[in-house]
Amino acid sequence: MAEVKTGLQNVVIAASEICLIDGQQGRLIYRGYEISDLAANSTFEEVVYLLWCGRLPNRAELDQLKKEFAENRAVAQEILDLLKSLPPAQHPMETLRTAISALSLYDPESEDMSEDANRRKAVRLTAQMGTIVAAYARIREGKEVIAPDPDLSHAANFLYMLTGEKPSDKDVHWFDIALILHADHSFNASTFAARVTASTLSDMHSAITSAIGALKGPLHGGANERVMRMLLEIGSVDKAEDYVRGLLARHEKVMGFGHRVYRTRDPRAAILQKMSEELGRSTGQTKWFEMSQKIEKLMVSEKGINANVDFYSASSYYVLGIPVDLYTLIFAVSRISGWTAHVLEQYADNKLIRPLAEYTGPTGLNYVPIDRR
Ligand code: COA
Repeated sequence: MAEVKTGLQNVVIAASEICLIDGQQGRLIYRGYEISDLAANSTFEEVVYLLWCGRLPNRAELDQLKKEFAENRAVAQEILDLLKSLPPAQHPMETLRTAISALSLYDPESEDMSEDANRRKAVRLTAQMGTIVAAYARIREGKEVIAPDPDLSHAANFLYMLTGEKPSDKDVHWFDIALILHADHSFNASTFAARVTASTLSDMHSAITSAIGALKGPLHGGANERVMRMLLEIGSVDKAEDYVRGLLARHEKVMGFGHRVYRTRDPRAAILQKMSEELGRSTGQTKWFEMSQKIEKLMVSEKGINANVDFYSASSYYVLGIPVDLYTLIFAVSRISGWTAHVLEQYADNKLIRPLAEYTGPTGLNYVPIDRR
């Protein structure tokens, strides 16, 4: 009997030059650069260039990418009409999945598998993911859709399209860092789903639609929203410990903790912790951060399980005024950069991804006609 590697745990399935996670040391590296260095010094646009092209851009290259984003942020009117015509979703990720899939119907290059066309599709998908999320958020509240502003950065433009107001420099600064931190994470479930689809030489929109489906789950991108729902349910700092002890006693998972790869603290959590603290302090809403800190201390002392990327991003987004059910969509607004980088890498050196199963069902059964069963 072959050894079964449940959940593909510790299985290396391909070589990749995009992202290194060192689970023992708690390090995350995009194309050679530590995540802390990128978060402190770069911008989301620079990171996207880095992920796609394998090196940091010079000024002309960065300006060119920003121009391409600005020119491609608007989505076809048919996509806005689609968003308006869809029934209310049980979860907004359903709407995002549908809209991103529909984008291919309006993309003249949807079936063009040349490298240049795929690179252009990566630009359009990355530029338009935020537009779709912001437009959806406004349409469901009966508000006017805000057209993208070509003079704003990716982070600033998203917050502007979401709220209809020019965001403060502080909010843009932190949101840009959140986008950088979520941009890639090696062969996580959604990226792997994208690569599996790409490995059949299916088109980029199909690969990204697969990724969105995988991101939606509570064990992956869906965790950040659940963290905030937990904090809201706890309600006050003094109730946090009892609440979490109760979850642990019932053997329930505490969302925003644990990781398949990190055996120590997720390096993104440290940066997001600072973000949550500073945003909370600057808006006078410190209780979510304080509550989060209490929960983290308890999880580390009681279970030895550390916070992951979703834990402090929840309280940060809340203070930024982002609706709670959009948190996983925000993840996609950033992760589209990593997904597309991985799809481009998969196409460049493709091998169909097709693992085996250890069959444990019966054999040798004889077919029984239906009226004798
Ligand atoms: N809360 C409480 N216990 C947890 C936990 C959590 N968030 N995460 C893991 N554990 C415990 C499990 O109960 C299990 O304990 P056991 O061996 O006594 O049964 C052990 O740690 C291993 O967890 P398991 O779920 O089998 O590990 P995994 O590698 O398959 O799972 C995650 C990784 C991310 C799916 C898991 O940690 C989890 O469900 N976390 C919560 C969801 C989340 O935040 N996801 C976002 C990830 S970035």
